[in-house]
Amino acid sequence: MLNFNYSIPTQIFFGKDQIQVLGKEIKKYGTKVLLAYGGGSIKKYGVYDKVVGILKEENIPFWELSNIEPNPRIESVREGVRICRENQIDFILPVGGGSSIDCAKVIAAGFYYEGDPWDLVIRKAKIEKILPIGSVLTLSATGSEMDAGAVITNPETKQKLGIGHPNMAPKFSILDPVYTYTVPASQTAAGTADIMSHVLESYFSNNTGAYVQDKIAEGLLKTCIKYGPVAIKEPENYEARANLMWASSLAINGLIRYGKEAIWSVHPIQHELGAYYDITHGVGLAILTPVWMRHVLDDDTLDKFVEYGINVWDIDSTKDKYHIANEAIDKTQEFFTSLGIPGTLGELGIGEESLEKMAKAVTEFNGGKVGSYKPLSYEDVLDIYIKAL
Ligand code: NZQ
Ligand code: ZN
Repeated sequence: MLNFNYSIPTQIFFGKDQIQVLGKEIKKYGTKVLLAYGGGSIKKYGVYDKVVGILKEENIPFWELSNIEPNPRIESVREGVRICRENQIDFILPVGGGSSIDCAKVIAAGFYYEGDPWDLVIRKAKIEKILPIGSVLTLSATGSEMDAGAVITNPETKQKLGIGHPNMAPKFSILDPVYTYTVPASQTAAGTADIMSHVLESYFSNNTGAYVQDKIAEGLLKTCIKYGPVAIKEPENYEARANLMWASSLAINGLIRYGKEAIWSVHPIQHELGAYYDITHGVGLAILTPVWMRHVLDDDTLDKFVEYGINVWDIDSTKDKYHIANEAIDKTQEFFTSLGIPGTLGELGIGEESLEKMAKAVTEFNGGKVGSYKPLSYEDVLDIYIKAL
């Protein structure tokens, strides 16, 4: 296990009706609020009314940024920064899924930067200061509610890039599983795949000896395997929604990555797809992950795949090692398709046309190789895209 400094600062209010703490929590950090949300699901399903009711009752002035896109765009960030500056806003409250929370995080950083916030995303400028944010989560997937990262898309340059800063982590997040009852089956499936991918990106690491982290990781994977299908069949099953929600946060908040070197592989490859085709993040991950697994399985990685197969998929440990590893990958793929997620990029209408450009962009942006488990060259990434078609 490598050295690490533990810090997971976001305060979590988990469970039914935890929204009641909202006013008190906001007042700890700010006086004027930007309420940031997506295309209207929070209005349709009543969360908006609850939040606005509390803000009014507590006499907290607020302004709104709506229509934040899934795969949030830099234009929404720019608009958010403008509203915050015009009204001297000092606290941002995203209510929604990862897209609203990510957008809020970059608005919070862009507020203190005089130039275009896209400069921060492409690392042309450094983040110096960040407005506080607090989130109300309505979709279990990204873990943005408890991590210090955000992902923003620029359709003009065809880039979708991650950005992070320790102070970007929300001060608090309210996680009421009931708010996820209305998440449609397709997003529940994509979210489950996203959570699993976050776990796998850290689980498959070259460091050995982080046993605690790996056992937690296996537990999170089993949680998704158990409850993903239940939440799809019974959208109002509290136990399923609650377990997925907490798994979403724990998968990416640092807990399972501490003590390991884990530079992610599949996410950057998927983000390129998001930039070019605006596809749902978790869908791209579910398609790419098994292909990536087959690509990196060899004598060096075999033991880790065997561990994964036995501990996560309960495969008979007396079988041949390669058999176990391949069966584990097959089971991973079957699980994602059993949730209703398409199995190939072709099914999403994606063809060969941009694969080379995407492979080039992602390898160049990552300094020539993607990921740390089996660092992937341009040829590796292209091969993964082609096999995923
Ligand atoms: O926009 P609205 O109308 O709110 O509808 C959303 C959207 O259409 C809907 N939705 C959300 N909560 C709902 C609901 N519908 C019904 N009932 C509810 N309770 O679901 C759709 C997807 O929402 P979105 O926020 O886009 O999904 P998700 O949470 O999966 O976020 C995806 C974004 O997060 C990034 C992804 O790349 C993508 O851009 N990620 C962020 C990460 C981070 N910050 O750490 C890590 C991840 O790996 C990921 O890259
Ligand atoms: Zn993800």
